[in-house]
Amino acid sequence: MQGKLITVEGVEGVGKSTNIEFIAQRLRAADINVVLTREPGGTPLAEDIRQLLLTPRDEAVSETAELLLMFAARAQHINEVIRPALQRGDWVLCDRFTDATYAYQGGGREMGFDTIAVLENLVQGELRPHCTVLLDAPIAIGMARAKKRGALDRFEQEQMDFFERVRQAYLQLAQQQPQRFRVINAAQSLDLVQADIASGIEELLAQAKP
Ligand code: TMP
Repeated sequence: MQGKLITVEGVEGVGKSTNIEFIAQRLRAADINVVLTREPGGTPLAEDIRQLLLTPRDEAVSETAELLLMFAARAQHINEVIRPALQRGDWVLCDRFTDATYAYQGGGREMGFDTIAVLENLVQGELRPHCTVLLDAPIAIGMARAKKRGALDRFEQEQMDFFERVRQAYLQLAQQQPQRFRVINAAQSLDLVQADIASGIEELLAQAKP
């Protein structure tokens, strides 16, 4: 049986890493082989593209160049990691995926959703996440956490209104596709966040039973 692609999304500092680890543990406890990966990145070439994308630079980066680099990394990642894992029956747990492109390039950079949808179809064919966990919290909370982690990358250097647009785009996507998204209030205590996530995973596991 084909595995499932689970993605985790949210603006910086909402607790993606901690909660991805939590999801992986729950799935492994249910005897599922989990491939943990991230975007942009997940293969040597795609990780090189990640470096290109995240490194702050003096040269202004064209929005189209940024968008195409995101999808170039994704094409490689899908080919080398995601599709082979799903074909083996493993579940892929991915830290960000195409919803991040809709949110950051579509919302943050105000490129709109239509061009992204064209590239999504080109690069992914029919492949879409089975379930997406959106960790949502007011921007100020996440940015304060991100700043504590040290030097800011090229995206983290953006202004609050950029991240506000990113957050709103994520919420719009979740509203448009309620069956795929699970929106979690990441401003709650970690215990409550993880209780919500755990109930989402139980539902997924119940659906996946043969
Ligand atoms: P992170 O995975 O460490 O959060 O950093 C990746 C950064 O790249 C983050 O600021 C979001 C951004 N990004 C996009 O702008 N578009 C995308 O499609 C993806 C996957 C990430």
